[in-house]
Amino acid sequence: MTTTEERPVGFGRMPRKEDARFVRGHGTYVDDVRLPGMLHGAILRSPLAHARIISIDTSAAEAHPKVKAVITGETLAGLGLAWMPTISYDTQAVLATDKVRFQGQEVAFVVAEDRYAARDALELIDVEYEPLPPVVDALRAMEPDAPVIRDDKEDQRDNHIFDWSAGDKERTDEVFAGAEVVVAQDMLYPRVHPAPLETCGTVADMDAITGKLTVWSTTQAPHAHRTLYAMVASIPEHKIRIISPDIGGGFGNKVGIYPGYVCAVVGSIVTGKPVKWVEDRSENLMSTSFARDYHMHGEIAATKDGKILGLRVHVIADHGAFNATAQPTKFPAGFFGVFTGSYDLAAAHCTVTGVYTDKAPGGVAYACSFRVTEAVYLVERMVDVLAAELDMDPGELRMRNLLRPGQFPYRTQTGWEYDSGDYPRALRLAMDIAHYEDLRREQAEKRERGELMGIGVSFFTEAVGAGPRGHMDILGLGMADGAELRVHPTGKAVLRISVQTQGQGHETTFAQIVAEELGIPPEDVEVVHGDTDQTPFGLGTYGSRSTPVSGAAAAMVARKVRERAKIVASAMLEVSPDDLEWEKGRWYVTGDPDQGRTMPEIALAAHSDLELPEGVEGHLDATCVYNPPNLTFPFGAYICVADVDADTGQVKVRRFIAVDDCGNRINPMIVEGQVHGGLADGLGMALMQVIAFDEDGNCLGGSFMDYLLPTSVECPSWELGETVTPSPHHPIGAKGVGESATVGSPAAVVNAVVDALKPLGVRHVDMPLTPAAVWRAAQGRPLRT
Ligand code: CDP
Repeated sequence: MTTTEERPVGFGRMPRKEDARFVRGHGTYVDDVRLPGMLHGAILRSPLAHARIISIDTSAAEAHPKVKAVITGETLAGLGLAWMPTISYDTQAVLATDKVRFQGQEVAFVVAEDRYAARDALELIDVEYEPLPPVVDALRAMEPDAPVIRDDKEDQRDNHIFDWSAGDKERTDEVFAGAEVVVAQDMLYPRVHPAPLETCGTVADMDAITGKLTVWSTTQAPHAHRTLYAMVASIPEHKIRIISPDIGGGFGNKVGIYPGYVCAVVGSIVTGKPVKWVEDRSENLMSTSFARDYHMHGEIAATKDGKILGLRVHVIADHGAFNATAQPTKFPAGFFGVFTGSYDLAAAHCTVTGVYTDKAPGGVAYACSFRVTEAVYLVERMVDVLAAELDMDPGELRMRNLLRPGQFPYRTQTGWEYDSGDYPRALRLAMDIAHYEDLRREQAEKRERGELMGIGVSFFTEAVGAGPRGHMDILGLGMADGAELRVHPTGKAVLRISVQTQGQGHETTFAQIVAEELGIPPEDVEVVHGDTDQTPFGLGTYGSRSTPVSGAAAAMVARKVRERAKIVASAMLEVSPDDLEWEKGRWYVTGDPDQGRTMPEIALAAHSDLELPEGVEGHLDATCVYNPPNLTFPFGAYICVADVDADTGQVKVRRFIAVDDCGNRINPMIVEGQVHGGLADGLGMALMQVIAFDEDGNCLGGSFMDYLLPTSVECPSWELGETVTPSPHHPIGAKGVGESATVGSPAAVVNAVVDALKPLGVRHVDMPLTPAAVWRAAQGRPLRT
């Protein structure tokens, strides 16, 4: 813990400002919102994965003494709200009218005086279903005789959603045809769930007199939600206020608009009272946005001595019952195009086919930037598969093929321009921290004794900070972010930003950005966010975009304030602005450093009777909109050391070394916290997390008894290292980092386990590497049952 004396004026380690309320239990989450006369909503969900709705009888529920309204798809159809648009230009049922298409789908909404009565009344609703054959396997969904899930769509004759490709097919085929070595591997990135600690919920309050709708909501993107509500519900945008209070983790789960939100709004309109709806854990796991579910086939081409030449990839992407994946419009497969990874390739090509299945919709960027996790996992597994084929050390193979510092900015074979990097330095540092050679020696000795020890290496490049708005939008809303900075007469400041923290510490780091630019203490900067009436428009927090986009906006708006302060200071000092120089916190006269004015002095003067030059209005306040010129590309080198018990299949991750480069670090302590969390998340995905289904479409991951989250018991003491390669186009040289560790770590864990099983002839095991999966692989049994 840093002391007050050690606290930085700008960047540096600093305890999180927001923790003062969190550690005292004074956070305000959606479920803490209590309004006079507030009612409570509950959702009736489908027990079946695929069925036609024959009838819904709500009479008994309506007769319940505490029930105020029962809303069905038919009620919503009358308002034109039975279906809503998804972020991916598809439609999604708010409440089912014709069919149910996944287990847990929303069928009816009860509004009652309290949460218990609302839940009790659900049992009184009688729904008659005609079961239909469920389709839970993406490969089965593509077969010509598979039942058509989206028969509500006029032109939909099968379960196909889209085909997308990137790279140069012809050139890639040529490279593969001429290559000395080609290896192929099928791999599944299983369906997982962001599982935030706080589930999703909303309190909707429609004021019939003013016509103003106020919605407290667990949203990562309050402004985007406001615009979407305006478009869907035809409520004028200026009459909608979205408040996203404290959020207990998002990880992508709180990007979309869920039927429960819409039902709460309708419930409030129908009853004239505020309506709260908060889902329980099973509802969250079963019905809200999942992530991944990518069936990948990779091929890698190389020379015999280990020069990687090309990658060829095909993906079947399972999008569930409604195509509600979250990514910029022009990127149906998100940023999967970065599958070429951190290597200098001659050619690459990939195709992605999206399909419908009878599973919950979503496909969110769970702690990653739009499918980058899947891409990194694919390429990092393929490099290990190649290393095994060539009998080369995977660390050495990577070192030989990593992009060199002189190649940046580097344009990949699929058109991305990586901004900056020194990849070999990061990998070397990770290997030094790990004592890589010693580990390999230890492994060789253990192999002699028949013990299974694995060393897994992964290297990742992330692509974070969506926009630029010319290329990236969500439903036509360009991905740029606004910032407003107000400086009070005493030099204290208020920064208003469009992004919304869910635990990442924005109230601290964004204050530090302003502090760095203006030379005032971070304690003197209040950060306001999460309220559309109080903050400028912007697209929200996901895909580690806050620092790359909004963080840049915060720096730029502070620079505007600094320039205004310069003019005021010049009037105070009676010199030309051209004769002033800046040092942290004050403008002074060139050549006469004693003649200067501090920011608080300038702020007071800006509000005083000081005579200002013609055209200068006074005050220091400024606004800006930041449209990033490119994404930022953080990267890192990870090494995992794991021991495997051949008899039980138990995996013990003994060590994990993570070297991250996110450019300049605003608050190294927060960055390390972000990396710790991401590593635990990645370890969980690699070893234990999966939302699985049985053949009837029953969700097998609907509780924390079934969907396992990693704890400190499974996590080693993380060993972190850092290199700093600033982003050349970001005003403070920072790159995003929130999700780097989730992106980079699963491949390191899987590579370690496969490396441990190498003496048994194992080349790949699909995640999650549960004891059963590892044991089967060790026994040489089929990988999937
Ligand atoms: O969008 P999100 O906040 O999830 O991700 P981020 O922009 O990567 O930031 C996560 C946290 O780490 C924020 O508090 C950032 O300001 C902080 N950070 C930092 O201190 N230095 C960096 N170079 C990047 C992020």
